[in-house]
Amino acid sequence: MKRTTLLFFSALFAASSYAAGISNAQKDVIKKLMDDYAAQDKAVAEKAKRNPIKASEFSAETGQMLFMKSRNWEGEEAPACAACHTKDPKQMGTHAKSKKPIKPLAPVANPERFTSEDKVEKNFSKHCREIYNRDCDPAEKGHYLAYLMSVK
Ligand code: HEC
Repeated sequence: MKRTTLLFFSALFAASSYAAGISNAQKDVIKKLMDDYAAQDKAVAEKAKRNPIKASEFSAETGQMLFMKSRNWEGEEAPACAACHTKDPKQMGTHAKSKKPIKPLAPVANPERFTSEDKVEKNFSKHCREIYNRDCDPAEKGHYLAYLMSVK
């Protein structure tokens, strides 16, 4: 496991100072979702003949990279998450098409985020279908969450 990932997780679960601003409810929902995504990754990994990703291996760096990039995993042009949520998930976003304001995505900047597993799952799948024409795979979702959780 990469040192940064380790640092991230020890900070996430041990040091409360790190998570100042992120409520226990948000932490619980995010942890539960990451565990679910890791469990779902087992089937994907088996098909792809690779090792499954553990919840502790979801990486903030990978998540950030995916968040900023404007190509899908097949290499085709696609709007980045940042196109609507901006490059700084602590800021207000703007819907790229409708121009409607979007409240900050980072849990540290918005106590309403990640308080419902169902809402997160629904939004994730909706977005991924809009942007990539298919749902994101569980590993990608795990990386996104690791990234958003790491935003201070
Ligand atoms: C076309 C604009 C657009 C793009 C691109 C986009 N989003 Fe969103 N996102 C929204 C809107 C609109 C909402 C719902 C409004 C709200 O919750 O404030 C939302 C909400 C969310 C939520 C819900 C969080 C919660 O529980 O409240 C997550 C997670 C999310 N987006 C992640 C992503 C990720 C990851 C990507 C890139 C794969 C992405 N979004 C790309 C517009 C976008």
